[in-house]
Amino acid sequence: MPLPPSEYISNVWKPDIFKDKVVFCTGGNGTICSAQVRALVHLGANACIVGRNAEKTEAVAADLATARAGSRVLGLGGVDVRDVASLQRAVDRTAQELGGIDFLIAGAAGNFLAPIAGLSTNAFARVIEIDLLGSYNVTKACLPYLLESVKKHNAPGALPKDASSGPSGRIIYVSATLHYAGTPLQTHAAVAKAGIDALSNNVCIEYGPFGITSNIIAPGPIGGTEGMDRLSTLAHSGESNPVIRSVPVGRWGKVKEVADATVFLFSDTGNYVSGQVTVVDGGAWRVSAGFSDSGFQYPDFLLSGAEVTGVGGAKKTKSGGPKL
Ligand code: COA
Repeated sequence: MPLPPSEYISNVWKPDIFKDKVVFCTGGNGTICSAQVRALVHLGANACIVGRNAEKTEAVAADLATARAGSRVLGLGGVDVRDVASLQRAVDRTAQELGGIDFLIAGAAGNFLAPIAGLSTNAFARVIEIDLLGSYNVTKACLPYLLESVKKHNAPGALPKDASSGPSGRIIYVSATLHYAGTPLQTHAAVAKAGIDALSNNVCIEYGPFGITSNIIAPGPIGGTEGMDRLSTLAHSGESNPVIRSVPVGRWGKVKEVADATVFLFSDTGNYVSGQVTVVDGGAWRVSAGFSDSGFQYPDFLLSGAEVTGVGGAKKTKSGGPKL
């Protein structure tokens, strides 16, 4: 049964604006990235999502395909963004089976809550590898196809000064706002996301002259996502919760609001937007300095030496920082 479009996209966009375009997405199994891809498929695109778990990836792909009759959505499992060879095989296969790659969403991420005191070098490295290195790996694998896409949709030999022949060669990295003010228990992810922002900026500068745009979407607290389940004990709390009330817009975000930003950046509305960060957080980070929406009171939690509990992916590790 197809999900009603009102769940994942606003009704302001025209059908078929992405007709015959192809999006490749890492992290497409996740709640946010799957909504982004579902919106693009609904508006005419074909897609490939990749993930580590084959069964899950194939099931999500089949579900995404219900967003538009006649769409093609590949779900390729056994693909780890840290493994360049598996990624390259998936990218090549997508181009072969779907006729090219016009858009890239680099969204694969891993995260959990842990203080520096409970964060091993290996744990820090894993998140850097999945988020940052994974984004770099998929960029490198897709760039030749994105360049082809620019050529295909523009006059031969002409630099694509305007994309009126159809948007092509676009990248969105899914980042976060964690590193703007700093976020306790999120050192690993904040450092990785800061790197992703820098990566996007450099891709913008180096590949803009070849017609490629590169932008960041930085979602804030988006309700009903795996990320929220892993990162906040307040994921399911009501809107009277003081933390929710501290979000200027007064509620958790919706995945469709991230999908709408995606359509804006990938469609003609985004033709002259590159090297930018689109924050979709209801204004949350602007009131977040030194504050965490994780539900662990700062700094009391760190001072207490207690364990992180009540969130997905938690490990038995005391927060205990330096003994004063
Ligand atoms: N607190 C502290 N350390 C943790 C942790 C936690 N909650 N969860 C994992 N780690 C550590 C492990 O102990 C290990 O370190 P060690 O070898 O020093 O003990 C290291 O992280 C790697 O863990 P492992 O489970 O082997 O890594 P993985 O590559 O299988 O998984 C993760 C990567 C840890 C990022 C995992 O959370 C994951 O796969 N996440 C994907 C889904 C996700 O996070 N989605 C939400 C996105 S917002």
